[in-house]
Parts: sequence; C-alpha cells; structure tokens
Amino acid sequence: MASASRFTRRLWLLAAALLAAASLLALQAGPPRYEPSAQPDRIVATWTAEPATSFSVTWRTSTAVAKGFGEITEASDGPGFEKAARRVEAAVEPYTTDQGAAHAHSVTFRELKPATEYLYRVGGGDDWSEWIPFRTAAAGPEPFTFLYFGDAQTRIRAVLPRVVRKACETAPQARLVIHAGDLINNHDRDEQWGEWHESSAWMHRSIPALPVPGNHEHGRGPDGNRRITANWRPQFTLPLNGVEGIEETNYFVDFQGVRFVALNSNEKLAEQAAWLDRLLENNPNRWTVVVFHHPVYSGARGRDNKEVRELWQPVFDRRGVDLVLNGHDHVYARTRLVRGDGGKEGGTVYVVSVSGAKMYDGKANPMMEKIVRQTQFFQVVRVDGDVLSFEARTARGALADSFRIEKRGGTKRLVEP
Ligand SMILES: [Fe+2]
Ligand SMILES: [Fe+2]
Repeated sequence: MASASRFTRRLWLLAAALLAAASLLALQAGPPRYEPSAQPDRIVATWTAEPATSFSVTWRTSTAVAKGFGEITEASDGPGFEKAARRVEAAVEPYTTDQGAAHAHSVTFRELKPATEYLYRVGGGDDWSEWIPFRTAAAGPEPFTFLYFGDAQTRIRAVLPRVVRKACETAPQARLVIHAGDLINNHDRDEQWGEWHESSAWMHRSIPALPVPGNHEHGRGPDGNRRITANWRPQFTLPLNGVEGIEETNYFVDFQGVRFVALNSNEKLAEQAAWLDRLLENNPNRWTVVVFHHPVYSGARGRDNKEVRELWQPVFDRRGVDLVLNGHDHVYARTRLVRGDGGKEGGTVYVVSVSGAKMYDGKANPMMEKIVRQTQFFQVVRVDGDVLSFEARTARGALADSFRIEKRGGTKRLVEP
C-alpha cells in the first residue's frame, strides 16, 4: 500500500508540474492579439498609378471573407452621397503569419478627378469600414506638405501613437506619409504589425503611405533563407515600377512637382543605382526626395554604410537629389547640402530620424550640422515652388531643427534660421 501511495503521489506531482509548465507557456505566448475578423482592418491608402486620377487601398480580413469591395463617390456634406457610389471588386491575396492565415484585399480606384475630395469605404456584406475622406492630387505642381517618420520598431503601441497624433495635429493638411524602415522589430511577428497598424490607423486610411523596409523587416523564413516579412507585400499595395525581384520595396511616385523615390537598402544596391540613374535622367519634377533605411551619413560615429554611400551617392550628386530621408541610427541627425565628390554646387541634405522608443547614443558624426538624441521625432516638410521647408519636431511638437532649401536663379542653397 505504502509504495502504491508513493507512486500515486509522484503521478500527482508530475501532473502538477506539467500543468504549471503548460500554463507558463500559455502565459508567455499570450492570447492571440490582432486576430483578423470579417470587419476590415489594417486599412492603408497608397498609390500604384497616377496620384491625380487614382489611388489604391489595402485591408485585411479573416479567410472567411472570400470577396471584398471598394466603393467610392465624390464627397458632399449631406449623408446622401452613398447613392452615387460606384463599386470595384478587390483582388484577394491569402497570406500566413505566425498568428495564422488571413486575407489581404486591395483595390485601385481609377478615373478620378484631380484635386477632388472623395469618400471611399472597403468591405462587403455587413462588414464595411466607415466612409473615409480622400483627396486626389492636383494634375500639376502645387504646394503641399508631407510627413516623414524614422524607426518606430519597439514598444510601438505604447509610444508611437502620441507622435502620430501630434504630427496630424501639427500638419493636418499632410498629403503623404513617409516611413523610412524598421516599422517593427521582428519581421514575421504579426502582433507587432498589429500594433503598427493600430498606432496610425486613422492616418493611414486617409493619407497615402510611402514605406520602405529596414533590416528589421527582414529575417529568416521557414526555409532558412533571409527574406522580407511575409506581411509586407500583402499589406502594402505599391507601384510596381522598380527593380525586378524587389517589387513594392523599390518604386517611385510623382506628386505635385516632387519625385519621391523609395530605395531598398537591404539588397540589389548596384541594380538600384543603375535604375535610379536612368529614372532621374529625365525627371520633369522640380524636386527629388529619396527615402531608404540605412543612412548615407550615419547619425553616430562607428556606424557606417559604406556600400550604400559608394554606390548611391554618386547618382544623388549627378542627378541633383535634394533630400535623402533615412532611419536605422535611432537618433535625429542632419547634414548641410553636401556632395560625395566634394563639389560645391548643388548637393543633398541627408536626414536620419527616429519616431519610436529605441535610442542610440554615441559620438557625433562631424558631417552632421544638427544632432538630437533620446527624443522621439516626426518631420513636417512643405514644398512650395522654389522652396522646400523642413521641420523636425519632438513628440510634444517642439521645433528641434529646421531649414529651407531654396532653388532660385539656377542655384540651390541651404537657409538655416
Ligand atoms: Fe532600427
Ligand atoms: Fe535598422
């Protein structure tokens, strides 16, 4: 009897230990967050074609939603606008993340009028988004404002929303939003993408995004090879006008007199240098803004992206790129108008910024005219004719750095306050 009872006690102890281990594991994994449902979420406006007459929208649902739609109509103040809406069927792209399968839906609204306010919604059946205002671009150059954010990356839900909110309060008229990579920390963690979408949901529905991937959007896939996150291509519908093989990470958009070029600083650098050189050879826009993740001039000493600088800066010099927007160094840092070849005419202003919680210190790079550490930032940029005005503002909206690039009488000069 004694030995039988010892055995039973051991069995009980083993069961209790297994139960404790299982509950600890469950606690660590947590309940699934940001699960897809029939209700559209992660709604992001972008462009794939001409911004004066079209725009694209991407959203997510559960796999139970096999078919989705976009509806659009010209905006009006009364609630009767819905009657005139026209419907476009969405393309559906199934994808799988660490939280399971989902459907990405995308539509491109075309044949729109330039400089016109529309209302659109996405969904189907009983599950629709709200009607969302969206303004098409003017057909030619017109003054406008845009936003630029550096790495969000960590503690996204906790600390990014206040920066996004302040940015929208400061520049409610912003027409596009640039993200310079490292939007999240772990490329295939869908929960982090959920936080990122939630943090800026209102903004991304109405103001088109131009995102580029950083190193943190990359990691090993199930086959052990390094690749971009499985979320990227389904969740962003971007122009397919870049280098083959890195679609939707390398592209360009012309908006009201500015050519915005997105480069992918993680791969195919030489191919993108040749592509960029050809692209900017006949650039009808007065201004050129280039965005990618790894800085040409790092914000801190000891960090350097020599290959990026050696391959791309000669093209920026030759083609007169005005502004380069980077991330990666988790600091705010900005140069004067500089050329890699030492020339005195023209040149490019290089900026590094950070919007999220992760911060780096380190000695100042002497190339930098301005460095601010341990601060969350957003940037407001306005282009108006011959003048590009740049403001770097802190999370609470304080002006931390500003400059203007002026193009008058055939020369380009930097004006600092
Ligand atoms: Fe980063
Ligand atoms: Fe990075």
